[in-house]
Amino acid sequence: MAKAKVQFVCNACGAIAPKWNGQCPECGAWNALHETVVTPSSRTGGYAGVQSNVQRLSEISAQELPRVSSGTEELDRVLGGGLIPGAVILLGGDPGIGKSTLLLQNAIDVSTRLSTLYVTGEESPQQVSLRAHRLHSGNNEVRILAETRCEAILDIAQTEKPKMMVIDSIQTMYSEQLQSAPGSVAQVRECTAQLVRFAKANETTIFLVGHVTKEGTLAGPRVLEHMVDTVLYFEGDPGSRFRIVRAIKNRFGAVNELGVFAMTERGLREVTNPSSIFLSRHERPVSGSVIMVTREGTRPMLVELQALVDESPLAQPRRVTLGLEQNRLAMLLAVLHRHGGIQMYNQDVYVNVVGGVRVAETGSDLPLVLAVLSSFRDKPVAPDWVVFGEIGLAGEIRPVQNGEERLREAAKHGFKRAIVPAANAPRRAIDGLEVVAVSRLQEALDHWR
Ligand code: TYD
Ligand code: MG
Repeated sequence: MAKAKVQFVCNACGAIAPKWNGQCPECGAWNALHETVVTPSSRTGGYAGVQSNVQRLSEISAQELPRVSSGTEELDRVLGGGLIPGAVILLGGDPGIGKSTLLLQNAIDVSTRLSTLYVTGEESPQQVSLRAHRLHSGNNEVRILAETRCEAILDIAQTEKPKMMVIDSIQTMYSEQLQSAPGSVAQVRECTAQLVRFAKANETTIFLVGHVTKEGTLAGPRVLEHMVDTVLYFEGDPGSRFRIVRAIKNRFGAVNELGVFAMTERGLREVTNPSSIFLSRHERPVSGSVIMVTREGTRPMLVELQALVDESPLAQPRRVTLGLEQNRLAMLLAVLHRHGGIQMYNQDVYVNVVGGVRVAETGSDLPLVLAVLSSFRDKPVAPDWVVFGEIGLAGEIRPVQNGEERLREAAKHGFKRAIVPAANAPRRAIDGLEVVAVSRLQEALDHWR
């Protein structure tokens, strides 16, 4: 195959150079030149060849897209209801988290309904087969292809015509049109572009596996995220067997849906009722631990926040957060000082969400402040309390969405007392749960004192 012409385009200013250079000759940006394929212009003679036509939005039929189950209910929900023909889904995550396992499991399930092709660039077909045996898969119709050349894969796919395809992983694929190494930004981008074109033209659902780099991004600065329809992250604490699939972007469904799985001897098992798996269940009350009810996607979930406050030897004490936003902690400590009169300028503050969960909502403010204070004073919060609520800069406690649903979830799991924003107090009493409604930070602190 003839090599296509390549050129180097600056990411910062768009300047074109014939050769790679450490610095862009136009704008002087460092490390910004990236190899790209020169596509010959197909336009002949101005606008004469334009074939597209304008349609009225109101006249385009808005049919619900047909969806096919991916094999697990948890993954279906994250995808917005199942697989859509022609959709390209990127599954990102740390190495060893279980991406290959999840997609092989789903490919096996889907293969009885749709023709399925599993392209492996990292493992041999024997290794994939061993894993399939480990999963105790019954009869399956999955076809395996061990190949890393993108053009060759698409050639084969043209004749095999799969309706679902897995590319494991996109970083091992390379296009013969580029000289750069597999895994480079240029290669990953070019291969993804080719696969996306194939998916749309053939109505094939394609899953791309993407490894997260050390910087925490998918192969370079998020180059893939805008090219695909759906971006899923597979995350979890390496020490825990629970794994979470989270939608970061979804053109066909809601984001922030969660799918929860547990890694077992026989592959990933769905966790359909994940509400309380992330609690660490202490024998007796410990200081620095507070349970909150968060809401991820459409489900309420109980999670445990932990804080450790310790005298700091540093001029600038540490503020470390795992699973929560760091700036938010700094802000809350300032509110605590200003409206609660509690100083922590000489204390290191560490906070963590148990089980590797990430909480991305403001309802964690109040539980976080209580956890920090509980550790600071070495005074436990009773283990049958739940807390949620947003804290404003003026020291007011603001409501969160779906308060009543969260309270019911807490009652279901045997919690006895809830400290919540006044506006979230339920109209009718909830059996077995005493609700303490607060509207100022100081009130919340008084209740616990
Ligand atoms: P894998 O899917 O290979 O991860 P990734 O593709 O994201 O790199 O998962 C590998 C891990 O999962 C490995 O540490 C072994 C574990 N595992 C199980 O515990 N049970 C199983 O049935 C399988 C297949 C894997
Ligand atoms: Mg893998």
